[in-house]
Amino acid sequence: MPSDLIGAAPGSPVVPGARLVILGKQGAGKGTQAVRLSRHYVVPHIATGDTFRAAIRSGSEFGVIAKRYLDAGELVPDDVVIGVVKERLTHRDASHRGFVLDGFPRTVGQAEALQTILEPSRLDVVINLDVPTAAVLTRLASRRVCSSCGANYSVPDNPPKVPGICDVCGGDVVQRDDDTEAAIQRRLELYERETSPLVSWYSERSLLATIDGTGPLDEVTDRIVDEIDRRKLGAV
Ligand code: AP5
Ligand code: MG
Repeated sequence: MPSDLIGAAPGSPVVPGARLVILGKQGAGKGTQAVRLSRHYVVPHIATGDTFRAAIRSGSEFGVIAKRYLDAGELVPDDVVIGVVKERLTHRDASHRGFVLDGFPRTVGQAEALQTILEPSRLDVVINLDVPTAAVLTRLASRRVCSSCGANYSVPDNPPKVPGICDVCGGDVVQRDDDTEAAIQRRLELYERETSPLVSWYSERSLLATIDGTGPLDEVTDRIVDEIDRRKLGAV
């Protein structure tokens, strides 16, 4: 463990630092849980979808190209995504403390590239958030996001305090452009074809932990943290 870790509060049992991937189908709660894990382990949350949405908001040339893929529910080509993640992982926070990768890898080619990027170290654990398809469809239909800062809401369970206005930054709270019926169907198809093979790929490498992603948010977080800590402490 590097000596310059920014630790949790004194006396906290949390051992900061972790190299984590969160897998799961669309709406499984990857982003929701990744934010919590990032705070818990004091590591950056690296979400490829968020990176692309920020590029789209900025209106950059890259964002214009990314928008075509995202709005249609298609995957951004591997070489582009791998380049983005490789660059981000060279930053000091990620290279020294670790990371929570959310939405990457999602093809076997991306998983192989990640393994090469990380050598000689490796991931601590890959969390596979397991949620039935019927439940993710309900979650995606009720998801709302802030168009400025990306904060996540859901109606009616966790709406912004003022309807349509973000609690965090005052931005507009809207439905995500790829939460249309057609794009969701395409994203779930691509999950089955391109991403679900990663479950066995990581299982064969003894890195996979499948966690029940249903139930209250705190309970899901507790299940994930218990599993990560068991592995970090070498109990698995
Ligand atoms: P990305 O942004 O990663 O989207 P996704 O994979 O479709 O997943 P979501 O963000 O929709 O779901 P989530 O699992 O994060 O769920 P959330 O926490 O929001 O990628 C978008 C696009 O970018 C891709 O389609 C592709 O075009 C491109 N892209 C990104 N990465 C790529 C890559 N590696 N390669 C190629 N292309 C790439 O939760 C969903 C809702 O459920 C929320 O409202 C939340 O509040 C609620 N919720 C969460 N947990 C619970 C719970 N326990 N109970 C009840 N509700 C819950
Ligand atoms: Mg997400």
